[in-house]
Amino acid sequence: MELFYASLLTFFVLSVTLSFHFLLYSKKSGSRLSNLPPGSTGFPMVGESLEFLSTGWKGHPEKFVFDRIARYSSSVFRTSLFGSPAVVFCGAAGNKFLFSNENKLVQAWWPSSVDKIFPSSSQTSSKEEAIRLRKMLPNFLKAEALQRYIGIMDGIAQRHFATDWENKDQVVVYPLTKHYTFWIACRLFVNVEDPSHVAKFEDPFGCLIAGILSVPIDLPGTPFNRAIKASNFIRTELVAIIKQRKLDLAEGKASPTQDILSHMLLTSDENGKFMHEADIADKILGLLIGGHDTASSSCASIVKFLAELPEIYEGVYREQMEIAKSKAAGELLNWDDIQKMKYSWNVACEVMRLAPPVQGAFRDAINDFMYNGFSIPKGWKIYWSAHSTHRNAEFFPEPLKFDPSRFEGSGPAPYTFVPFGGGPRMCPGKEYARLEILVFMHHLVRRFKWEKVIPNEKMIVNPMSMPEKGLPIRLYPHKA
Ligand code: HEM
Repeated sequence: MELFYASLLTFFVLSVTLSFHFLLYSKKSGSRLSNLPPGSTGFPMVGESLEFLSTGWKGHPEKFVFDRIARYSSSVFRTSLFGSPAVVFCGAAGNKFLFSNENKLVQAWWPSSVDKIFPSSSQTSSKEEAIRLRKMLPNFLKAEALQRYIGIMDGIAQRHFATDWENKDQVVVYPLTKHYTFWIACRLFVNVEDPSHVAKFEDPFGCLIAGILSVPIDLPGTPFNRAIKASNFIRTELVAIIKQRKLDLAEGKASPTQDILSHMLLTSDENGKFMHEADIADKILGLLIGGHDTASSSCASIVKFLAELPEIYEGVYREQMEIAKSKAAGELLNWDDIQKMKYSWNVACEVMRLAPPVQGAFRDAINDFMYNGFSIPKGWKIYWSAHSTHRNAEFFPEPLKFDPSRFEGSGPAPYTFVPFGGGPRMCPGKEYARLEILVFMHHLVRRFKWEKVIPNEKMIVNPMSMPEKGLPIRLYPHKA
């Protein structure tokens, strides 16, 4: 399939004349473009997008960045991605610059294809949507609300392991971790927990995520086309849930605090205006996307690393069993238990260092500015990269070695460990993700040891970090 898209792209590239390329760039030339970072803008229109994507598909996403750092002897280089001239800032100093200049020199940007997959009901761009969503989230994701979710997450984890893991000799991990995080999100965001209802959303969701960073060719059967259809389907389903909830709230059958949906329906903005149903559907969709494939990618990677590293597994097992033994029969995990899972969280962080679920994000230069002596023109896109930042030997000696002690004490230096981004746009779901990942680890190691069926299975990026074949494992339940 990838070959098919590659050929389509090649055809597309050849059909666009080189002169168009020169026209495009000469129109914008001038002193603004005189001292650009070194680099290559690749093919006309397509730029270096295919190489950027394909290094991830092949399992070495950091290669795109490291090859160019070596080629240009520079920690900032020029390229062209997803139809825009772009600059990549490599490493902690670049991250610091970007995260500290949010809304001053740069602001968040997504390829325009993303707006096609998520056409906003209120006709604002996805950027403005994100700002509105961000304002609303703290109420839902604040510490006291999160504490209430631990018991709910624990209950779902127990049912998940009972139905999908127990009494099985082998499982394929990645689809299961997706199911786990999606089930929790459906319950906590819209109070949907009936497994058949959850399943109805899950498949279209897979299509949607796959299309987000795909080649934006809207033809029947392309990942991009499937993502647009999936987005429409999910939004229609969400609107139906929202309508029902309005009725239930009016009749006292639903509680104002039961999930984020009730919260959104009952909270007005600073002008006293309530959100429309379609707006709420958009916001919930945004949260489901932000919160779903990211945490499931982490959970799957944790299973992979624990299979490969028995001494790390033992450490996590000891910590989790101590917590398990301190609980009465049937007692759910609580906030204190989570605080005791220090070693497990260090392990999870080391997993996210080596296999960050999100490989990076874009910013848009809102002014001309200078960085490291190079000029960055207004309108150019800037990319920061978690993979290459996390493998910098200056901050992480022996970067490929798995070593959770890197996170002991005050942990890595600022801006060197960025799985959740940083600055004002830092992931608002970080704490929520920590909880669901730790609850998952607790139930996993309490029940099983395991080994990989495919010893050398690769981790790829498409667009999240994921095991190439889904990570099939053989399960060995602990003796009671
Ligand atoms: C391991 C799990 C997760 C990882 C690694 C992760 C990572 C990230 C990253 C790297 C960003 C982009 C920051 C940027 O643009 O610079 C982001 C944004 C975001 N995340 Fe997460 N995330 C995770 C889980 C979650 C969860 C559970 C939720 C929701 C409950 C969530 C909601 C969001 C939202 C709404 C944004 C957009 C924020 C904005 O644009 O201001 N994420 N996340």
